Amino acid sequence: MTDAVPKQFTVDAGTLARPSFTALPPLALYIHIPWCLKKCPYCDFNSHEIHGDAPEARYVDALLADLEFALPSIWGRKVVSIFMGGGTPSLFSAAAIDRLLGGVRARVPLLPDAEITLEANPGTFERQKFAGFYAAGVNRLSLGVQSFDSAQLRALGRVHDADEARRAAEAALMIFGNVNFDLMYGLPQQTVAEARADLAAALAFAPPHVSFYHLTLEPNTLFHRYPPPLPDADTAADIEDAVHATLDFAGYQHYETSAYAKPGWQCAHNANYWRFGDYLGIGAGAHSKLSFADRIVRQLRWKQPKQYLDNIAQGRPLQEEVDVTRDDVGFEFMLNALRLTAGVPAALFAERTGYPLSLVATGLEAATRKGLLEPDPASLRPTELGRRFLNDLQSLFLSTSA
Ligand SMILES: C[S@@+](CC[C@H](N)C(=O)[O-])C[C@H]1O[C@@H](n2cnc3c(N)ncnc32)[C@H](O)[C@@H]1O
Ligand code: SF4
Repeated sequence: MTDAVPKQFTVDAGTLARPSFTALPPLALYIHIPWCLKKCPYCDFNSHEIHGDAPEARYVDALLADLEFALPSIWGRKVVSIFMGGGTPSLFSAAAIDRLLGGVRARVPLLPDAEITLEANPGTFERQKFAGFYAAGVNRLSLGVQSFDSAQLRALGRVHDADEARRAAEAALMIFGNVNFDLMYGLPQQTVAEARADLAAALAFAPPHVSFYHLTLEPNTLFHRYPPPLPDADTAADIEDAVHATLDFAGYQHYETSAYAKPGWQCAHNANYWRFGDYLGIGAGAHSKLSFADRIVRQLRWKQPKQYLDNIAQGRPLQEEVDVTRDDVGFEFMLNALRLTAGVPAALFAERTGYPLSLVATGLEAATRKGLLEPDPASLRPTELGRRFLNDLQSLFLSTSA
């Protein structure tokens, strides 16, 4: 251990074989809706092209049955936020979302000011439908814009053009106010000037929140098999710098690796993931992380929609449930927390993992020595270098078994 290591990192790790919690973390609810109008060639999410109508009534019934099966594992706990993601939840009718949220409220206590987000694709936009989602209780809309450039939207295989994106954006801001735009950069043959123009088009709407993703070629996607002509690494880095500078100048806080928000508009649901809170995920392929007095479990639900529906009907919602081990929990906590620009208070580690911070002492020592982590005993905060080389920083915590 060197002098660069703040004293509290050196506290004895103890011999705890299991975590020990005095209080459980906040609990969020994730609901997965697995269908899309068309599968985008870059997307590796659990999303399936729909042929005909989505079986929404049967799927809402299954989601509510799934929630009921899960009740014993969350007894007495309040839900702090809901996120309906996909896939394309906006494929569903407002009546289906209303029945779903009504069913959730009848089964679990929801905080009165809970953030309730729904992901929408501009290709499914109808003003009446958006108003119906709002009336059902959705108070935040996350719109998958990707780009306001029609040529790029075609190259990305999106089902909507720039005009539809604009109409959906306008209506979303008018109806919900609390809106996120998903945008991507490093698009096929994109130049820095084009990326700037695209971002300017997005910022003209002044959305309170923007998620900015670098287009990546994910295995098992069409783009991976037939890669489009992407900008070279230098151009992509220049685009990234231009994007950061423009958003900063426009008053957005870059509060997480891919997330930017005007002050006061950070996403509460995602912040709970990054702070290693608990979440129950229901729906096809949904993941959960749940804490109990002396263990943390991860659950996975059946991935294929038909498999999920059939198994729920048989009373078997889970495909897999595993304990998070002592060796993995430190890495999992740091993997999330280090995505946050402001980091987290050091005390949160013990609160959320059930182990003392000394469990990750080796990683903390290495990260501080390499200048990737601030040498501040009160917080776990990446330096600017650590944010730039986040993978390197995170990987220092891969094995916590000393
Ligand atoms: C589940 S989708 C959101 C909503 C909706 N399905 C849509 O696309 O309009 C989540 C977001 O992840 C981003 N995304 C998906 N695949 C990506 C990839 N290969 N590279 C970068 N971002 C990606 C997109 O911005 C997308 O909007
Ligand atoms: S609409 Fe969204 S979830 Fe569906 S395939 Fe495209 S990016 Fe993936």
